Amino acid sequence: MTTYAIIGSGAIGSALAERFHAAGVDAVIANTRGPGSLQPVTDKFGGTVNPVELDQALQSDVLILAVPYDAVPEVAGKKATWDGRTIVDATNAIDFPAFKPRDLGGRLSSEIVSDLFPGAQLVKAFNTLPAAVLAADPVKASGRRVLFLSGNFPDASNKVADLIARLGFAPSDLGSFKASGSLQHFGQALVALNLLRD
Ligand SMILES: NC(=O)c1ccc[n+]([C@@H]2O[C@H](COP(=O)([O-])OP(=O)(O)OC[C@H]3O[C@@H](n4cnc5c(N)ncnc54)[C@H](OP(=O)(O)O)[C@@H]3O)[C@@H](O)[C@H]2O)c1
Repeated sequence: MTTYAIIGSGAIGSALAERFHAAGVDAVIANTRGPGSLQPVTDKFGGTVNPVELDQALQSDVLILAVPYDAVPEVAGKKATWDGRTIVDATNAIDFPAFKPRDLGGRLSSEIVSDLFPGAQLVKAFNTLPAAVLAADPVKASGRRVLFLSGNFPDASNKVADLIARLGFAPSDLGSFKASGSLQHFGQALVALNLLRD
């Protein structure tokens, strides 16, 4: 059975924990401060989403990065190779306090993140909606909330699309990074676009 880890327990990590719990999909969750800091998560989502130490979370098959973009190298540096893992990149490369897209010299942030996880297959997802929207029930009378994904590994994208569907959302696979360009990245057209699919 595929194992899932949510890395980061802030706004996006907590929103994901809520959705995993509501859908009955088991996951572990970790942050920098250890499981002792995650009592609120245990209280609300325990039994489905269980706090663990970061090193244990990083053993999971699918890792969802819900950490600040600048923290990604630290997470990636925890292991030399990530063979067989699927990394789901929910981060956005933002310059604070200007709240502007980071100048990455023409590269996509997810390509940079992908390079930090040798051996892994990276899929960009869960990065376009504000945390409060991501946390809310995605199933409405008029349809399911759309979640975009993109990546260069079709098998990994299919796996993440299946997860997105299990969580109750309607996955919309944009294809490879070359095909989708920067559309899903911070500052571009699909960010904060809250759509329902019939
Ligand atoms: N907030 C949004 O609405 C939103 C929407 C779309 C995308 N995003 C993106 O999602 C990512 C997370 O945003 P957020 O708003 O959830 O941030 P946040 O509330 O500041 O939470 C960040 C989490 O990352 C953890 N963390 C930081 N460095 C870490 C490390 N080296 N190893 C493990 N965990 C680490 C923190 O741990 P501690 O709790 O121990 O400090 C914290 O739990 C960002 O890249 C952001 O751009 C955010």
